[in-house]
Amino acid sequence: MSKLWAGRNAGATSALADDFNSSIRFDCKMYKQDILGSVAHAKMLSKQGIISEGDAEQIEEGLLSILEDIESGKLQFDMSCEDIHMFVEAELTRRIGDAGKRLHTARSRNDQVALDIRMYLREESEKVVSLLKSLVSVIADKAEEGCDAIVPGYTHLQRAQPISFGHHLLAYAQMFMRDISRVEDAVKRMNVSPIGSCALAGTTYETDRAYEAALLGFDSVSQNSIDGVSDRDFCVELMSAFALIMMHLSRFSEEIILWSSWEFKFVELDDAYTTGSSIMPQKKNSDMAELVRGKTGRVYGDLMALLTTLKGLPLAYNKDMQEDKEVMFDSLETVIMCLEIFAPMLGTMKLKRENMYRAAQEGFINATDLADYLTKKGMPFRSAYKITGEIVAECIAKGKVLDSLTLEEYKAHSDIFENDLYTDISLEACVAKRISEGGTGFASVNNQIKAVRNFIAKKQ
Ligand code: ARG
Repeated sequence: MSKLWAGRNAGATSALADDFNSSIRFDCKMYKQDILGSVAHAKMLSKQGIISEGDAEQIEEGLLSILEDIESGKLQFDMSCEDIHMFVEAELTRRIGDAGKRLHTARSRNDQVALDIRMYLREESEKVVSLLKSLVSVIADKAEEGCDAIVPGYTHLQRAQPISFGHHLLAYAQMFMRDISRVEDAVKRMNVSPIGSCALAGTTYETDRAYEAALLGFDSVSQNSIDGVSDRDFCVELMSAFALIMMHLSRFSEEIILWSSWEFKFVELDDAYTTGSSIMPQKKNSDMAELVRGKTGRVYGDLMALLTTLKGLPLAYNKDMQEDKEVMFDSLETVIMCLEIFAPMLGTMKLKRENMYRAAQEGFINATDLADYLTKKGMPFRSAYKITGEIVAECIAKGKVLDSLTLEEYKAHSDIFENDLYTDISLEACVAKRISEGGTGFASVNNQIKAVRNFIAKKQ
């Protein structure tokens, strides 16, 4: 196709250069935004008397017919076009003639592409938020199921204190709820219209930027035309939010992989979300969780790639910025894919309560509670800590656990000990007693589930 910008450059570009320069194979994703943006632009131009109403009507009709034909599959993208903007404009002119050539008045591809990306990401972000909401709901349901399942809580991957499994899951609900607000927050700053910034300096025509922005659902217009065309902060912000979502999914995946191992056996993933081995018949692999963990690297990489592309770019538009799209789309699509698979994988995961409980009975994870028992009966915490340590050492030497040491053996360490110590250090009591706000106590876990569900309900 002959180039819309042919004029100044008489010599033909090489086929290699055309191919290298072109972005249509990936920016064609933004066809809808490009077309709707152009419809609004034509409306604004005619309202301002810059083009005639008749031309604007033809343009709008032509653009909408292009949209329809793309969506029905009747019209294919012409990969010899430089980008989606050129394709739509050329196709419009092919359909309606001269009126089509008036569309590009008072704008440039520089503000056009900035507009299209914002519109595209605004819409896609809604999908991400809705997937995050579904995931948080699944977590709340699983947490309810696992509220009374007692499991060791870990620090340094060493058994630390008994907790409710639901409590552990709800930590992830908090992360994903922050992710929801982070994406929503990024969208707020994204929802500023750059159109009308033109190539970089604004335009000599009397445009109405606010009107055009309002037609397209933007909250405001950008306040500096150079910034309008050069800014990709909104991509970086969103991709940072995506990197955090992936980091959370990756930590969660890692735990699910560990919990599914023979060593832990706290959970079992549904067959639908696992694979077998081609050689080892006993294997049930957590491939989905591993892939989510693995894809996190890609999403971080996409973010770093864009930051590095932008670093040191002089104002205003530079072709380097065309590199924003592939990494942006890749990180967006990866996050969407991972969220889509993660929620049902988690939802169908079976809890193995007896194994959790058994693990919690080993490893002296009620030692803190034994020390607290002494402290509550008047002994200074440091002394209680020391005595408890000695008792643990004695248990290890005798192959016992705290619950199986006799009262006489306890009394040998301190005569504060009475029979009530056994109920005090039972795993159920250890969990139930952690009544502090946000603690693992069963009541607190139930409150958290309510709060999480409330958060999601308010977002509907
Ligand atoms: N395909 C280009 C991009 O994605 C559109 C903007 C081109 N502007 C220009 N002055 N060459 O960045």
